[in-house]
Amino acid sequence: MSTPFGFDLAHLRIEPACVLAPMEGITDRSFRTLIRGLGGCGLTVTEFVSSEAMSRHVAKAWRMAELSPDEHPVSIQIYGRNPDRMADSARYCQELGADIVDINLGCPSKTVTSGCAGSALMREPALAQQIFRAVKSAITIPMTVKMRLGWDRGCMNSPEVAHIAQEEGASMVTVHGRTRMDFYKGSADWSAVGEVKRRLSVPVLVNGDILTIEDAERALEQSGCDGVMVGRGTMRDPWVLRAIADHKMGRPPYVPTLDERRDVLLRYFDLIREDADADDRRALGKLKKVSGYFTRGLAYGARLREMVYRSTESEAVYAAVHEYFDLLQSHGLREGFSRVFTEPSQPYQPQDSRRLDRAMEPDAEA
Ligand SMILES: Cc1cc2nc3c(=O)[nH]c(=O)nc-3n(C[C@H](O)[C@H](O)[C@H](O)COP(=O)(O)O)c2cc1C
Repeated sequence: MSTPFGFDLAHLRIEPACVLAPMEGITDRSFRTLIRGLGGCGLTVTEFVSSEAMSRHVAKAWRMAELSPDEHPVSIQIYGRNPDRMADSARYCQELGADIVDINLGCPSKTVTSGCAGSALMREPALAQQIFRAVKSAITIPMTVKMRLGWDRGCMNSPEVAHIAQEEGASMVTVHGRTRMDFYKGSADWSAVGEVKRRLSVPVLVNGDILTIEDAERALEQSGCDGVMVGRGTMRDPWVLRAIADHKMGRPPYVPTLDERRDVLLRYFDLIREDADADDRRALGKLKKVSGYFTRGLAYGARLREMVYRSTESEAVYAAVHEYFDLLQSHGLREGFSRVFTEPSQPYQPQDSRRLDRAMEPDAEA
């Protein structure tokens, strides 16, 4: 018998409470389909979509908000600083079939913050409040908010901003345990996320640096949150949400075989090519980008990356993936390969920032 691991978000049931984080350039329809197909994912979130671009009908913004018919529950994330444009975009998201509209208050990027959107709104709670109110009144589906701990260590105001969001009708808040000025440095502070959880009555997700079952356990324990959101960890190991969900639900965590890993990567490539609409140059560019993310930390990963980067057509990328997995087989690296993903992580050291950096850095060749 499995143990429940989920929560109610307004009228929606999110189960398992394992959520794929929004990642610009990554969590497009193909990636979301891939992760959902592997199981263990209770909610997906699109890449952030500019409300300015969406309300001015820029085709790229609308493409970013496209959903698959079988992708539910799903949230479309929007960002911007103009309450009216945010409200218009939220309405469009609802018409596009989103189950949730998520407001981005977390993006640290200069292009977003210089327009006073993303995490810059943490410094302007009054404007954030106007945005929450405008969005909420434009839609009948739930509104949620994703934020960082604050702007910097001197301004860790996420409990206040999250409370404002809740008062304005937000049904869930996600907190990445870093400030804007931290960018991606240091470690996510899961205990500080707990300050938000204690302040709110709606569900709160903890986010940042969750790579393994053990990380998820600690993040939940330290924050007291209702569920986890995982971003970069899913690129390193597309099965990580499934493993966390299995573990939380009292089932043995699923361990994929080497053949499955190869087949999933190739299936993902197929989805990318389908999405690229026969534009092989576009497909190739994306394949090169994701191959880099997917192979960091793997034995001989650098060799695969090199083969992929040299490819001039997408067929060659497929050949490189086959060659790479044959190489692993021939070196009897099945165990070595799975160890990269399944061995329990080192004991958690709160100040040790290097764990995730190491995971995302080019690997040392075996
Ligand atoms: C490539 C990349 C793109 C991202 N794009 C977004 C985004 O569009 N919206 C957002 O709210 N957060 C975005 N983030 C932040 C993630 O959602 C997440 O909060 C952050 O990576 C910490 O979680 P993680 O350690 O599990 O990756 C992005 C992160 C990365 C690495």
